[in-house]
Amino acid sequence: CGIVGYVGSQQAAPLLVEGLGRLEHRGYDSAGLAVLGPGREGRLRVVKKAGRVRDLAEALPKRFAGKVGVGHTRWATHGPATDVNAHPHTDTKGDVAVVHNGIIDNAAALRAELTEAGVDLLSDTDTEVLAHLIGRSEADTLEERVTEALARVEGTYGLAVLHAAYPDRVVVARNGSPLLIGVGDHEMFVASDLAALVRYTTRVVHLEDGELATITADGFTSTGHHQAVDLDIDPAAYDAGQHESFMRKEMLEQPEAAERVLRGRLDERFGTSHLGGLDLDARDLRAVRRVKVLGCGSAYYVGQMGAGLIEELARVPADAESASEFRYRNPIIEPDTLYVAVSQSGETVDTLLAVQEIRRKGGQVVGLVNVVGSAIAREAGRGIYLHAGPEVAVASTKALTTMHLAFSLLALQLGRVRDLSIADGRRLVQALQRLPEQLGEVLALEDQLVPVAARLAEAESLFFVGRVRGYPVAREGAQKFKEITYRHAEAYQTSELKHGPLALISPAVPTVAVVPDDELTERNVAALHEIAARGGPLVVLTHAAVDLGDLPSQAEVSRIDVPRSERELDAVLLTVALQLLAYHAAAALGHDIDKPRNLAKSVTVE
Ligand code: G6P
Repeated sequence: CGIVGYVGSQQAAPLLVEGLGRLEHRGYDSAGLAVLGPGREGRLRVVKKAGRVRDLAEALPKRFAGKVGVGHTRWATHGPATDVNAHPHTDTKGDVAVVHNGIIDNAAALRAELTEAGVDLLSDTDTEVLAHLIGRSEADTLEERVTEALARVEGTYGLAVLHAAYPDRVVVARNGSPLLIGVGDHEMFVASDLAALVRYTTRVVHLEDGELATITADGFTSTGHHQAVDLDIDPAAYDAGQHESFMRKEMLEQPEAAERVLRGRLDERFGTSHLGGLDLDARDLRAVRRVKVLGCGSAYYVGQMGAGLIEELARVPADAESASEFRYRNPIIEPDTLYVAVSQSGETVDTLLAVQEIRRKGGQVVGLVNVVGSAIAREAGRGIYLHAGPEVAVASTKALTTMHLAFSLLALQLGRVRDLSIADGRRLVQALQRLPEQLGEVLALEDQLVPVAARLAEAESLFFVGRVRGYPVAREGAQKFKEITYRHAEAYQTSELKHGPLALISPAVPTVAVVPDDELTERNVAALHEIAARGGPLVVLTHAAVDLGDLPSQAEVSRIDVPRSERELDAVLLTVALQLLAYHAAAALGHDIDKPRNLAKSVTVE
């Protein structure tokens, strides 16, 4: 979900609509605005709609005047996407408007209590109780009213509150959901994501958990103690420009993103890397006996590629696990394990809570995070920033590439304090230096991939297969494909096909196979023959040197030769080819690629 708020001398509604448009990737099943109209006792007006921000913009009355306001885009948790469940929520008198991200855990009890007290609840949401609690408070100031209401609440929130009796301000509070204040010239903003602010200001205050703050036209007050900081960012990076979608723009940015994550970090002379942000010296690195990578979604799959690399280069046992599961199985936290939390946004709550659990038990965590100053980056306290630049499309691309490269740097360093030779170190450093250009070469395969993707888009169900290094590549390929095409795409280890899923292979079920030129090529090619013999169409992502043998003449086979790096690093190039396939399949189906149904860019609820 996304929050924006404004207080200043301009009309709030157009600014809020613009801001919401930039937050849509955070949730887009409904949207709404509240403004306080002019006059000493400001009149509160609310418009909210199921659907996209553009539906909301169309529904706004011609005159919707007011210089104080809040807005919201929703990703449904409690209750379906309807006009009534959209935020802002109001109290019975219509004085209070609340927009909220997060989940109120004791909402059911509070709803029952309010109903008992005669309050008519209009929506199915947890948020509405907040509006009533604030409305019923008899405290003197809005800040006290909000504090009183929050004292009754268990759960997580980023919230922004308007009150008709306090028409000069927006009160905000944070506990577990991101929120920041934007400082303008006699105008102030709040938002849950920088993307909503950058057109107006890059001077911001990141609120901490447990903090309550007030913005008025002339400044802010807060229960925390911060100075506003000027962020060095280019607002243009948040625009799609001439590109037809953010996903396409971000895919094309991968060569530069790769350069940025590597810049200043490679040491050609000693065949290693410099990672100052890790704050671990050679002795600390040698003391690491195991590596555990934690992330969600695509970050988890790249984490699996990263764990493989670490095991291969450093010969330290390493694996990846979804952060969402890890925390709940009472994991054994070992002092000599290095925990690596990987996240584009740095706000994914499942990953954040895993980091907190590890730290609570005394484990050492580093972050591989894109968004500087985000919750996971701060909680981990050290790590490797990805420098991918802002990523807006829900389907992650350039962030994943930088994650993979950050893992390569980490693996190299862990390897070079152990048994990885200087010669191998240099070989990999040189290969990493070539990667940005090679990513460009993969992107140049686009024309060749468009018809292949269009053909895949026709299938209701597909397999993505790979082995060892190629398996997480297949998993991420399937993930991307299902996210934006809504087709059933299942990843499998190529070696396991014959132990079950081969039963599903037919001319209607294509297989996308990852077949790099490595120790397993022969075994992989044998599996292709098993699939082709059963009439399964094949798309093979491979390297020019690979011989696919004599596949049956009637078999439907598309072969894509992807540029190759060193075999340890090939995964990142193969992954980008799979991004293009998913993208063009979704485009062939006419989908809204940047905003796939039911998903959100970063999931800040459990
Ligand atoms: C959501 C997104 C995924 C993303 C995952 C992790 O589920 O829909 O595309 O991979 O979160 O996000 P993070 O910001 O932690 O990398």
